[in-house]
Amino acid sequence: MAQVEVRNLYKVFGSNSNRAIQLLEQGMSKQEIMEKTGHTIALQDVTLEVERGEIFVVMGLSGSGKSTFIRCLNRLIEPTSGEIRLDDEDVLQLDKEGLRQLRLHRMSMVFQRFSLFPHRSVLDNIAFGLEVQGVKKGQRQEAAMRWLDIVGLKGWENSYPDQLSGGMQQRVGLARALTTDPEILLMDEPFSALDPLIRREMQEELLNLQAKLRKTIIFITHDLDEALHLGDRIAILKDGLVVQVGTPEDILTHPATDYVAEFTRDVNRSRVISVESAMIRPRALASRHSGPQVALKLMQQEGVSSAYLVDQNRHFVGIITLDDALAAARDGAKTLQSYITTDVPRTSPDAVLSDLLPIAAETAVPIAVVDEEGVLAGILPRVSVIAALAAGANGNSSPASFSMNGSRAPETQPDAESEAEKAVVPEL
Ligand SMILES: Nc1ncnc2c1ncn2[C@@H]1O[C@H](COP(=O)(O)OP(=O)(O)O)[C@@H](O)[C@H]1O
Ligand SMILES: [Mg+2]
Repeated sequence: MAQVEVRNLYKVFGSNSNRAIQLLEQGMSKQEIMEKTGHTIALQDVTLEVERGEIFVVMGLSGSGKSTFIRCLNRLIEPTSGEIRLDDEDVLQLDKEGLRQLRLHRMSMVFQRFSLFPHRSVLDNIAFGLEVQGVKKGQRQEAAMRWLDIVGLKGWENSYPDQLSGGMQQRVGLARALTTDPEILLMDEPFSALDPLIRREMQEELLNLQAKLRKTIIFITHDLDEALHLGDRIAILKDGLVVQVGTPEDILTHPATDYVAEFTRDVNRSRVISVESAMIRPRALASRHSGPQVALKLMQQEGVSSAYLVDQNRHFVGIITLDDALAAARDGAKTLQSYITTDVPRTSPDAVLSDLLPIAAETAVPIAVVDEEGVLAGILPRVSVIAALAAGANGNSSPASFSMNGSRAPETQPDAESEAEKAVVPEL
């Protein structure tokens, strides 16, 4: 079961919301309803689910309804209609005390403008949630010190917010939200007010922190790069409507609408194309116990100059090159055992293509894609890496701009190139 379930959520700003929704159902646009009635349709029929432990990003332009959405979740804004369930509990049915408990213990919010208390020290800002919960001073300060340390602010506990840079203030905001150990973090454009370098740093730190904490994070941004970088899944909002929900790769490779396609056009796709989606099956695959003649025949058949060797469980063992197989044959060797090259570049199916550029630039043989169990899942000829990156750039950027050394063009690798072209290969 999803941790958060939102069904048919509407929010209309204005006194006669029913009328506005009626007009909406009659096919009037948000803009027309605004002009005719002065009502703002901030959210329309939003239905989505957030899984436990994921970073769920809600992305959209300014005014698309992001803040309204996130504030409906803890009812800082009262929805007009629809359903919100948290662990199957109906959030819209909570009374005042229930809501207080929800905000104190289960959902914490991090705001774009930090919203720190200017007259409280950093430590007292961080301890605020525990103070409201009635936790004793010593205990809450101890907890606050721990989080202060985790977000990298040791030594600043007695400073005041205006003595801190923007990035540091947002670390305080984050520590304050985490100190109550909430199940869900609601982050409304938390890094948008920071300059780009600091912002990038904060994104990395959030990911590091999340790797340890595994919170459910609902993260709002208007920045596609940030969404792609942080999101396990992304919902794209336009005029209060969810136009697509998907993984970063879904969004880039299968945009649901022209609007999403337009949005994603300029992004360097390589950053999120997975190895798995670009790899091909190895064409010359042999058992580690094969003799040189078997390997040579296989290479000849397939027109390649190396074969991939696996054991009976399909675990990757190494490769045998044409030259080594010939040498083995000359030596009269029965097996290839002592001719195998095991020093082959490897990657996992989950790796991201762009991370492989340095390897692809260096290697003369395709990269072996090996899964957690050690099974050879596929291979990645260097030309595939380069081709995918070039396609991902959508013509905005030539392959050369991806910091390839340029010293070895794909053409000097006929072997790899032919492997990429003929993707039709025998099943493993
Ligand atoms: N309190 C409010 N009263 C009236 N209209 C509002 C209010 N808050 C937001 N809106 C309108 O609702 C729409 C969505 O706003 P918001 O959720 O703040 O968007 P975002 O966070 O994506 O920029 C906008 O058209 C905005 O002008
Ligand atoms: Mg907003």
